Amino acid sequence: MPIRLGVNVDHVATLRNQRGERYPDPADAAFVAERAGASQITIHLREDRRHIRDRDLAILRQTVTTRLNLEMAATQEMLKVVFEHKPDSATLVPERREELTTEGGLDVAMHRENLKRYIRQLREAEVWVSLFIEPDLDQVRAAHKVEANAIELHTGKYCNAAMRADRAEELARVVDAAKAARRLGLAVYAGHGLGYHNLRPIAAIDEIEELNIGHAIIARAVVDGLDRAVRDMVACMAEARESRASG
Ligand code: PXP
Repeated sequence: MPIRLGVNVDHVATLRNQRGERYPDPADAAFVAERAGASQITIHLREDRRHIRDRDLAILRQTVTTRLNLEMAATQEMLKVVFEHKPDSATLVPERREELTTEGGLDVAMHRENLKRYIRQLREAEVWVSLFIEPDLDQVRAAHKVEANAIELHTGKYCNAAMRADRAEELARVVDAAKAARRLGLAVYAGHGLGYHNLRPIAAIDEIEELNIGHAIIARAVVDGLDRAVRDMVACMAEARESRASG
């Protein structure tokens, strides 16, 4: 089965917001990502709107030509946002204001009844529902019970494991969870912390259909794009001097 890439463009919005500027625009980044082969654009509209904002969601809903995946907390506020903007899919994630990024998976087993009701409302709005969970068999079974369409396996522990044995153990947990989910009829995705140096064993797992990746791609774009950006600026300055001299 081919594997799809969802590109998370949150970090582009972080850079924009840091200076209170209008650029770089996540919609421009999404356009480039789709042109380069991304199958999906992923954004996380956080409660504190620290990166993606409601306006970004509205624009991306109109401009994304592949699929728009909205990561969100399972709150009433976000339900209204989904009904208004109708992303193609919603990925439910736990959210705490103080965290730097999504630090752990959703505890589906713990919040089964509420999640089941919540997911039903999303599915009635024809939104494909994925749950971001730890690679844990109880969580996989719980995701099936609450009638999610898909799970996204949190690969953070695999990526952060410093020792080879720990990494192998985390990889085995991802493999087992992916196989169990597929047997239950869930679509299986993975993400968090994946980069060019560590994604191969994860991308090789047959059951995984999609990876959502943000930081590594935007980080590489910044460094690889710097050459062109500096050359353009030097040329721009030289041109200004030349036109002054000739004018
Ligand atoms: N998937 C989910 C559910 C996430 O919360 C994140 C982080 O926003 C990612 C994927 C992407 O993680 P990274 O930026 O580390 O690639």
